[in-house]
Amino acid sequence: MADSMRLDKYMSLAGVLSRSDTARAVRAGDILINGVVPKRADERLDADTDTVTYRGERVVYREFTYVLLNKPQGYVSATEDGSQMTVLELLPEELQRVRPQLFPCGRLDKNTTGLMILTNDGQLSHKLLSPKRHVDKTYRFAVKFPLSDADVTQLESGVDIGGYVTAPCNVTLSDDKNGEITIHEGKYHQIKLMMEAVHNQIVELERISFGKITLPDDLPCGQCRLMSDGEIKALCESVN
Ligand code: URA
Repeated sequence: MADSMRLDKYMSLAGVLSRSDTARAVRAGDILINGVVPKRADERLDADTDTVTYRGERVVYREFTYVLLNKPQGYVSATEDGSQMTVLELLPEELQRVRPQLFPCGRLDKNTTGLMILTNDGQLSHKLLSPKRHVDKTYRFAVKFPLSDADVTQLESGVDIGGYVTAPCNVTLSDDKNGEITIHEGKYHQIKLMMEAVHNQIVELERISFGKITLPDDLPCGQCRLMSDGEIKALCESVN
């Protein structure tokens, strides 16, 4: 059995239950391996061929973990920070303990909300963030002052954000202070600086899509969940 692994390790790597919670779930009969209740939490299974269910739901262990977070304001996009709350603190304990550790795939400012992906798949994250791959990111924004048609044209064709001219992007307004902007770069504070370049100011910023992934309507602000198989596939396809 090349991929033999203890059940409690399997459950914690899958991000479903901690090792101690697995022991409790085994005693409660909530876990089945190939349809049979295991006797102990340290029972071994083959991660490739055995089927594990928890309360009737299939548990799939993957080499890497992918999490969708609806980031609230007030959290920094880091795994550790001496003084500020990090997005990692928003994850349940079993996801905080996943090794290799999960990290945010790209940064959102402390006061930006919305779609954030956390993973420990360094290779995919690197591709998603590579400027060469042009992965689209769409943000809903509110600005302090009305945007004119000329401002929108300027934003769309590129503005100087301190020695760097942004690439063409798309802006659609719902009214003169609210709209959506899609960029495929990821410069530090990019949208904030772009709005400042047209003498305006971001009041609210929410990321609503990243590549082929959109912020799910049923994921409240501050909540996270594991990505589904379909979402992971769509995420991988976002870099092709
Ligand atoms: N651009 C910004 O200015 N801030 C973000 O958080 C993301 C993009």
